[in-house]
Amino acid sequence: MIASNIQTRDTFGRQLRDLRLSVVDACNLRCSYCMPPDRAYHFVKHDRLLSPTEIETLVGLFADLGVCKLRITGGEPLLRRELEEIVTRVAKIDGIREIALTTNGLLLKQHATALATAGVQRVTVSLDTIDPEGYAAMSGVGAHVAHVLEGIEAARAAGLAPIKINTVVQRGVNEDGILDLVDFARETGSVLRFIEYMDVGNLNGWRMADVVPSLELLARIQARYPLTPLDPTYHGEVASRYRYEDGRGEIGFISSVTEPFCRTCNRARISAVGTLYTCLFSCTGLDLLSLIRSGAGTAELRERIQAVWHARDDRYSEERTMLAVNQAPREKVEMYTIGG
Ligand code: GTP
Ligand code: 5AD
Ligand code: SF4
Ligand code: SF4
Repeated sequence: MIASNIQTRDTFGRQLRDLRLSVVDACNLRCSYCMPPDRAYHFVKHDRLLSPTEIETLVGLFADLGVCKLRITGGEPLLRRELEEIVTRVAKIDGIREIALTTNGLLLKQHATALATAGVQRVTVSLDTIDPEGYAAMSGVGAHVAHVLEGIEAARAAGLAPIKINTVVQRGVNEDGILDLVDFARETGSVLRFIEYMDVGNLNGWRMADVVPSLELLARIQARYPLTPLDPTYHGEVASRYRYEDGRGEIGFISSVTEPFCRTCNRARISAVGTLYTCLFSCTGLDLLSLIRSGAGTAELRERIQAVWHARDDRYSEERTMLAVNQAPREKVEMYTIGG
């Protein structure tokens, strides 16, 4: 057995630490920045998803290679019927010290207690506005924000804290509601993080003009609630953190467009169909599911994964500006298949 503190570094010396695992590509929302609602989507059949046993094997291998933090994503992970079983299995793996889950929160009320029991330590809920009409429109399916708010409450009651709220801000869409979200997060003791709208995938028609830079949001929030910068809680943290000077918690900004953080990027991603991607903006990856199903043993899998990470030279967000000027857009993996 390989020691779990092995260092697996890429061409820029970045150590593999963080694994983001998508357990399903389906979603019950159609956020325009991820799955524009005017299209049809074909989700993979259940037997083409990584099974709980396959997930256990892979997460075990990644733990051998130095991963200590696991984030479960989707699509919408609560739509995966074996989710509890998956969590129960990965929670027992040596070396995995933290299991978090990113969800849109619609089904969280029904699942929060079971997830906590299975071994999820905390949840991050995607919520772009707390205005009921705005939420129904942004969700692409007329969803009710009240269900998400109940989900957040249930997660808190189940001890899935600190609860983080991720808000993607789009110019002219939800920017007017940001201070209401700030107040909601302060009142409920949640950690709000504003995410700059990104050019992930190939479907959302992203334009730089639709991005609201974090510095602009910071200035607007500072005008109401003075903020002081905080140090990162861990190496490679994507959010820049600030604390409210009145002591009512903290807030974060994820600024991958205006302030890329590729230099410290230690994240690997596995899609629902078992493809390993080393960047959110990758176009190709290693098909681990086919390897497993064609009989590859753990030693071979480990070697292949290690080789991919050793060869890794991704830094898309740093290159974005250059690419925009010099090249035609390239094909990228869709966000809903790798969960952000
Ligand atoms: P914590 O463990 O709570 O710090 O989680 P996290 O911030 O690493 O994970 P989360 O899923 O909450 O990430 C928030 C969002 O930041 C994602 O949904 C993405 O939109 C963005 N993000 C996370 N990691 C990356 C990354 O490696 N590159 C880019 N460009 N964006 C990222
Ligand atoms: N830009 C920024 N964040 C995005 N997410 C999905 N699509 C985008 C995008 N285009 C985020 C969602 C969610 C997570 C899964 O990914 O807000 O929190
Ligand atoms: Fe929205 Fe997340 Fe579903 Fe994408 S996967 S449509 S971001 S809820
Ligand atoms: Fe990591 Fe790619 Fe995001 Fe840069 S753009 S931080 S390399 S996932």
